[in-house]
Amino acid sequence: MNDSYRPLTGVSRRGFLQGIASLGAMQLFAGNGGKLPPIQIAHCCDPQLGFGPVGKGKEAYKNDLARAEKEIEKVNELQPDICFFGGDMVNKWNELSQDWPRLLKRINVPWIVVPGNHDIPDDRNKTQRDLFTSVFGYVYTAQTVKGWRLIAANGQFERAPGRHPSYHAWRNRELEEAKKAGLPIIWLTHQPPFDRQPDEKDSYQNYPLATRHEFLDRCLDSGVRFFLAGHTHRTQNRTYWRTPLLNAETTSRNFDKRPHGFRMLEIPAEGPFKWEFVPV
Ligand SMILES: [Fe+2]
Ligand SMILES: [Fe+2]
Repeated sequence: MNDSYRPLTGVSRRGFLQGIASLGAMQLFAGNGGKLPPIQIAHCCDPQLGFGPVGKGKEAYKNDLARAEKEIEKVNELQPDICFFGGDMVNKWNELSQDWPRLLKRINVPWIVVPGNHDIPDDRNKTQRDLFTSVFGYVYTAQTVKGWRLIAANGQFERAPGRHPSYHAWRNRELEEAKKAGLPIIWLTHQPPFDRQPDEKDSYQNYPLATRHEFLDRCLDSGVRFFLAGHTHRTQNRTYWRTPLLNAETTSRNFDKRPHGFRMLEIPAEGPFKWEFVPV
């Protein structure tokens, strides 16, 4: 489960210098005695209704739906500051409006969702983007919660650099403005920037290498303190220059045989963060 990136090997000079720069970004919070604002986030991955391990089609959908309902009950009991769903809300994009409008109403804490590749399989398809927007309200967004800037990125757009210039301008502006305001940032995404290693080849699981390092270094320089992702269906805890990149358990299929559930991320004012498994 722990495939931490160790920055002592295979690191470019640019990466090293950017690492130093990111340490500079951490100083942004020194005005608060080096403390970060405490926050609790439910990290829920890939409910992917219809993908589940048992049954096919409608039966799989029913089983995944039952677990998503139970997950929401547990989130409601735990009362985090915000509930983050890391995309792939359904297995078939045209079933997005079947249950999610009702499920969202049942969540009694603020929520934030990013689109997955099963929700918007083709980033150029307006019908798919419009359906996602009709259910969740946006295809990318950001909000401030308890002194943190949460940027809900669009991983599909990140994977297609040059195709969505207004999105890329928006996310660069978001990063700059949060940095100027001295707000620590959590980057929320479906596809993680990388799967196992920052230098790995392009794959289904990551952002393109051609722009990946520029992106990661920009994030660290702007004050991104956590990357939270879904998509891999594996529980992963690795870092990019000490900045955690976390993928939690899902409630559909876990390819690493982890049990169904989600994680509660608890960032205290001081000391190490907790990221604890909650079974569903
Ligand atoms: Fe998925
Ligand atoms: Fe996915």
